Amino acid sequence: MMVLGLQGSPREKGNTAFLLSAFMREAKKLGAQTHVIEVDKKNIIPCREYTVCSKKGFCPIDDDMKNEIYPLLCKADVIVVATPIFFYHTTAQLKALIDRCQVFWARKYLLKLSDPDPKFRRGFLLALGASKGEKLFDGVHLTVKYFFDAVGASYYGSLTYRQISNPGDMEKHPTVLKDVKKAVSALLQPF
Ligand SMILES: Cc1cc2nc3c(=O)[nH]c(=O)nc-3n(C[C@H](O)[C@H](O)[C@H](O)COP(=O)(O)O)c2cc1C
Repeated sequence: MMVLGLQGSPREKGNTAFLLSAFMREAKKLGAQTHVIEVDKKNIIPCREYTVCSKKGFCPIDDDMKNEIYPLLCKADVIVVATPIFFYHTTAQLKALIDRCQVFWARKYLLKLSDPDPKFRRGFLLALGASKGEKLFDGVHLTVKYFFDAVGASYYGSLTYRQISNPGDMEKHPTVLKDVKKAVSALLQPF
C-alpha cells in the first residue's frame, strides 16, 4: 500500500511538517510504503485555464505536476493532505497543486473517462492554525473533499488543531501522537 503525503507548508521544520511526519512514521510502522511531496519545493505552475483538459483530457503545462505529481497521485492508495491555515484556507502552494487537478475532474465528469486501473483510494486531511476560530477549518474541508473526489479518493477523515502558531507548538500538543496512532490504524484498515 502506498501512502502519499502532500506537505503544504513552506516551513521545513514547522508544525505541518511535524504532524505529517508523525503520521507517515505510523503508516510505515504498519507496513505502508510512504512518499512525501514537499509542495513548496516543487515547480507547480498555477492553472492557466487553457481548458485543454475539458476537451482533450490532459494538461499541456510541462512542470513537476506532469512529470512527477500526477503519476504519484494515480499510484497512491491513500492521499494525505497536510496544510497550515493561511487566511482560512490551504497555503497558496498547495492550492496551486489542487487547481491543477482539474484535469482529473474534467476526465471524470466531462469526458466520462474511467481510470484504466481504478482502485479504491482513501483521503485524509491534516490541518492546523493559530487561532481558536470556530470556522477555522470550514474552507479547507470543503476544498479538500472536492479534491479527493476529483482524484478518485473517498474522504476518510481529518485531524485538525487550533492554537498552533510557532514552530514546536504541534510537537508540544498533549494528545497529538496518540491521535495520529489511532487515526492511522483506522485509515489503513483493509480496504
Ligand atoms: C500568510 C499566513 C496566513 C495565516 N492565516 C491564518 C488564519 O487565517 N487563521 C489562523 O488561525 N492562522 C493563520 N496563520 C497562522 C498559521 O496557520 C500558523 O502559524 C501555523 O502554525 C503555521 O504552520 P507551519 O508551521 O506548518 O507553517 C497564518 C499564517 C500565515 C503566514
